[in-house]
Amino acid sequence: GKVGVLFGGRSAERDISIMSGTGVLNALKSHGIDAHPFDPGTQSLAELEAARFDRVFIALHGRYGEDGSLQGALELLGIAYTGSGVMASSIAMDKITTKKIWLAQGLPTPRYATIEPGVTDLDKVASELGLPLIVKPPLEGSTIGITKVTKAEDLKAAVDVATGFDKVVLAEEFVTGRELTVTVLGQGENARALPIVEIVAPEGNYDYNNKYFTDDTKYHCPATLDAAITAEIERIAVEAYNAIGCEGWARVDVLLRESDNRPFLLEVNTSPGMTGHSLVPMAARAIGMSYEDLCVEILRSARL
Ligand code: DAL
Ligand code: MG
Repeated sequence: GKVGVLFGGRSAERDISIMSGTGVLNALKSHGIDAHPFDPGTQSLAELEAARFDRVFIALHGRYGEDGSLQGALELLGIAYTGSGVMASSIAMDKITTKKIWLAQGLPTPRYATIEPGVTDLDKVASELGLPLIVKPPLEGSTIGITKVTKAEDLKAAVDVATGFDKVVLAEEFVTGRELTVTVLGQGENARALPIVEIVAPEGNYDYNNKYFTDDTKYHCPATLDAAITAEIERIAVEAYNAIGCEGWARVDVLLRESDNRPFLLEVNTSPGMTGHSLVPMAARAIGMSYEDLCVEILRSARL
């Protein structure tokens, strides 16, 4: 049948989505699939309905694409789609709600505070979490709007940056350690982890530029970790994925604390990057799955 590849969109990650979606579209076409681009950032839902796609591959990142809203529209239109459903998508988009669920399940995630700008006592946050700390807009991706704060007097400016994206702001304890990510495919009992990727960014700063636009960031897959820690990280990544109710595919970001080798869950990305620099295709390659085969496998899991 006719397949739509949805990319572009209206979020701050539009440019990244265009890179992801172009790759996915070409991959599906190379497998002889009747795939067509569709941009819900410039095209309407009426046009989406009129296109009569049997299934769509969601290669959108951020709000209105990854956050459950589009998933809800696809449910209403009766079009099968890749990845998580409405609820898991919207929970995963919100790093604060995600952490609450993980903590309730006993899963490890860095300590945090929710900041209501102009209301929350920032000095109290800094003294509770300690310095440095990380300030994030809870609903963004690709490290957009994130600041590492090393001095208490810089916290206000960091909160102002994050407030440019979201009304409430997440402050998180800074965990010094190795930066890892785990791709999970499938769902429920059948969810399985792909090999762990370790990211070694210049000066430990895996920011927007070092994610997508430099060749200075180094990646190791499978990450060099001993077997017991590998198994533990893969287990908690799958538990974290299932705790949110993810389906199809997602990528769980993890920090491995240097002081005691304990893993901490940061967030789950339900529509992860599929660019030439992206991590999910790297993990797939480590088990001999090409970018093209990965795209076909994700598409095959599309459902309503
Ligand atoms: N938000 C970006 C696209 C990612 O998680 O890969
Ligand atoms: Mg993210």
